[in-house]
Parts: sequence; C-alpha cells; structure tokens
Amino acid sequence: MSHHDAPTVTRKPRFRVHHLAKAKAEGRPVTMLTAYDALVAPILEAAGVDMLLVGDSLGNVVLGHATTVKVILEDMERATAAVARSVSTSMVVADMPFGTYEADPVAAFDNAARLMRAGANAVKLEGGAARAATVRMLVDGGIPVVAHLGYTPQSENTLGGPRMQGRGEAAELMLADALALQDAGAFAVVLEMVPDDVAGMLTKELAMSTIGIGAGPHTDGQVLVWSDMAGMGQWVPSFVRRFAELGQELRSAAEQYVAAVGDRSFPGPENYKAH
Ligand code: KIV
Repeated sequence: MSHHDAPTVTRKPRFRVHHLAKAKAEGRPVTMLTAYDALVAPILEAAGVDMLLVGDSLGNVVLGHATTVKVILEDMERATAAVARSVSTSMVVADMPFGTYEADPVAAFDNAARLMRAGANAVKLEGGAARAATVRMLVDGGIPVVAHLGYTPQSENTLGGPRMQGRGEAAELMLADALALQDAGAFAVVLEMVPDDVAGMLTKELAMSTIGIGAGPHTDGQVLVWSDMAGMGQWVPSFVRRFAELGQELRSAAEQYVAAVGDRSFPGPENYKAH
C-alpha cells in the first residue's frame, strides 16, 4: 500500500470556546465534570464529556481538606498537568485557587499563566463585577475565563456556608455581575445553587454560556463533581444524581481481595509462574 492509499485517521477536535457558543446557539446542553488526575480524566473524556474542570473541590475530594480555601496554586498546577497529559479532546478548565487572583489583576495573570503552562485550556475564578478588571486582563492576554456566580465556596466564610444565592432582589444583582463579567470577556459562567427561574433568566439574557450546578435544568450546560455523580462518597447534596455506586463497588472489590489473600486463593495459578 503506497502512502497515497493510507487510511485517513480522523481525530475528534478539542472542544473549544467556539464549540460552546455553537452549542448555546443550537440549544445543545454541554457537559462538564470535575477531574483531578490521569486515572479518571481519560475515562470521562471517553464518555464524551465536553469539558473537564480541575476544580478546587480537589481540596475536599482528594486532599481531605474541609474547605477549598486550603487549596494552593501548586495543588492546582499538579492536578491540571495530570489531567491535561491524559486527555486530548475535552476542554481542560483549571480553577484559580483562593488567594491567587482577588487582590491584583497582574498577579492573577501570572498565576493563571502557570495553570495554562500546566496544560489548562481555560481558567475559572469566583466572584462578580469586582473581578471584571482581572477577567479583562486575562482574556486580553490570551487566557479564556469561566466565571462562577451564586454560591462560591471560596467565600463560604462571608456567605455563611452552602446556601442558595440570587433569590428575590438579588437576582438583578446577579444579572449585573454576570453582564460585567461577560463584558470583560468571560466565555461562560458557572451558576452554583441558584433558583431555577433565576438561572433560566440569566441563560436567556446572557450571550455567554451558563453551566449550572444546583441551578435547575434551564442552563446551557451542567457540571457535577465526578465523585459525587459516580457515588464514591456517602453523602451528596440533593441537586446531585448518583449515576453509579462506585464507592460500594470499590469497597466490595477490596473486601474480596482481603479475603482472597487471607485464604491464599490469590494469587491463583493464572497469576504466577512456578518455574
Ligand atoms: O471546584 C469545583 O468542583 C467547582 C464546581 C462545583 C463547579 O467549582
């Protein structure tokens, strides 16, 4: 077979910012799940997940912290690099951790650039109009930005813990925040723990895509923490559906291993060579 006859390999292109805009225009809901490592990320990508969020929920899910406030930039760089190394078509979005972007847009750019160098295709940061100047600086410098409104876990100490945001008059304020972030160049906004009608209103009013978590079905896409949706832990918030019970499966596998080693049925003849 000459090289002219070689079969053409068609590779799925990376999901990018313009694909998100197209999905919104066509009314196709987009999917985002968190990912923190090279073990799980390729499985989620193979399942067709559009965007992988290296969330600072890493702090709670993987590092055993009680809060995302404890997460540092180096944690996010290492996790982002692991996810980015192991996928090729999902968009990798890296969370900017607490303390790395709030005080100064220039410092924020330097820190976001570290996440991009680690392999991110975009970064996410929490907060409203007060972040607009930072979003503008990042976007002008070539870094796509996802905003995050509603319940923002890095501000749990000022918000008084996880609770719905944007009820009543606060809805108009949230719209003003979202418009300021959109005008600054954000291409999407995560809406966390926002009433369905407010999320629907924002989705209609905004040109950028809305990605909901605990925000009802009327957003442009949905995001969940992968270990919540796969049933790894005991408890999940009411807005999560457990699509599997992987925690129980893993425990059962480990119990069988413990028993098999205990009764010497493992390793079996198929697992070793006698000579
Ligand atoms: O860190 C995270 O996992 C998040 C999602 C909950 C949106 O920000």
